[in-house]
Amino acid sequence: MVRTYGCQMNEHDSERIAGLLEMDGLEQTDSFDDADVIVLNTCCIRENADNKLYGQLGNLKKLKEERPDLQIAVGGCLAQKDREIIQDKAPHVDVVFGTHNVARATGLLAEARISGPITEIIEESEVFPSALPVKRDASYAAWMTIQIGCDNSCAFCIVPAVRGREISRPYNELVREVEELAASGITEVTLLGQNVNSYGRDLTLKLRGGELPPDAEDLAGKVWVAGSHTARPLFSDLLRSVSEVEGIRRVRYTSPHPKDLRPETITAMAEVAEICEHLHLPLQSGSDEVLSAMHRGYTADRYLAKVHAARLEIVDLALSTDIIVGFPGESDSDFEKTLEVAAEARFDNAYTFVYSPRPGTQAAELVDKYVASSVASTRMERLRKVIERSSRLGNESRIGHSEEVIVEGRSKRDPNILTGRTRHNRLIHFPANRPIRAGSYAQVNVTAARTFNLMGELVEVTASPKHRTRIPVVAS
Ligand code: 5AD
Ligand code: SF4
Repeated sequence: MVRTYGCQMNEHDSERIAGLLEMDGLEQTDSFDDADVIVLNTCCIRENADNKLYGQLGNLKKLKEERPDLQIAVGGCLAQKDREIIQDKAPHVDVVFGTHNVARATGLLAEARISGPITEIIEESEVFPSALPVKRDASYAAWMTIQIGCDNSCAFCIVPAVRGREISRPYNELVREVEELAASGITEVTLLGQNVNSYGRDLTLKLRGGELPPDAEDLAGKVWVAGSHTARPLFSDLLRSVSEVEGIRRVRYTSPHPKDLRPETITAMAEVAEICEHLHLPLQSGSDEVLSAMHRGYTADRYLAKVHAARLEIVDLALSTDIIVGFPGESDSDFEKTLEVAAEARFDNAYTFVYSPRPGTQAAELVDKYVASSVASTRMERLRKVIERSSRLGNESRIGHSEEVIVEGRSKRDPNILTGRTRHNRLIHFPANRPIRAGSYAQVNVTAARTFNLMGELVEVTASPKHRTRIPVVAS
């Protein structure tokens, strides 16, 4: 069993770990009690991931005492950062591995069975994660890591320290991977990267100036090589190439950085039918002072101007964001600006976080500027209300529209209700009097809206998945 604490990049790594474990003869289970191997894949971006992990490791101690053969592994960026703390707090853990040695996870578990607990953290990636087998949770949608690491230095963020410099995967390799995914029945692909829209900057920098090496086209794609070899951004080309792959109906990406959001990307979103009309653009704060202290590289006006430009060009765009409340030094008036910008941006959805100091980051040193947690939680409540208002309005604006929905499955509460996602990534529930397979596409009329989801009526099923849905295997 693999449990994930953290971001989407991490969930993607978890799919790879599950794939490797399956190749090792293990079967997936959802229960700790049934598992022979438990992998906790961690994220250190936010503090509550630490608390949850240590809480879980505490619970697993008893299980390990009852069943000494049970193997427990902790991986991911928190494991990388806190390796000693984990060994210290939880000596019952068999293996600790980092973000760059996901590929070694099963090997380390095998070694630990013979020689006892192992901690192995490789600083540099030996195998690019996507060269590993993947067990995907859904048989119709896939994530694809296109770039690892981050060259920015946001003052609150631990990613650059744990994930290293930006490295982009070769262009043609990505297109080939999407072709393979499509051939296996995947119709929706989400391109992943910490700073996804700067994809390819490292590749084209190497190729610019001087003669092109023979593998230039593999690295940067045909369009870039045929062009003027200048600063042309690769990300928008990649979005287009991926969308052209036969069988791919939806393309998404996350997370872009506002300062790197180029007009070419907006135009690709506007022109290419497969790219979903949904932009997740992390704002972090609406105060210019705080944005500058965070080293975000844009002002609130600049952010709003990008949103405005995107809305002008992309018909019917949905917008979501990340916001941090209580960054060190955030004053009442700074926070008021965040509320104003959030109201003006009319976010359809937002992931809101109370700032938590991450050791080794610049902001963590600003101890005398820390915002009291009671102040931060009151601000958070106020921000949530603003977001909920725009989210509800956004959902209400869909009433009467016919939406293309990808069916995800039955509702947990009522098996006669199906759930799915619209192109805007809105969750929608609708009754169906016959089974419709997950991964099917349907047109659904929106009849009602709530803060976080829509209700609708099925009009028709427009496409069924190419392959049968995987039946979950539970270990006996
Ligand atoms: N405290 C709170 N939120 C954080 N994030 C990243 N680091 C921190 C931190 N130290 C949030 C940011 C980022 C999202 C993935 O997590 O909003 O966009
Ligand atoms: Fe962290 Fe900033 Fe890089 Fe995003 S862009 S991963 S917030 S440093």
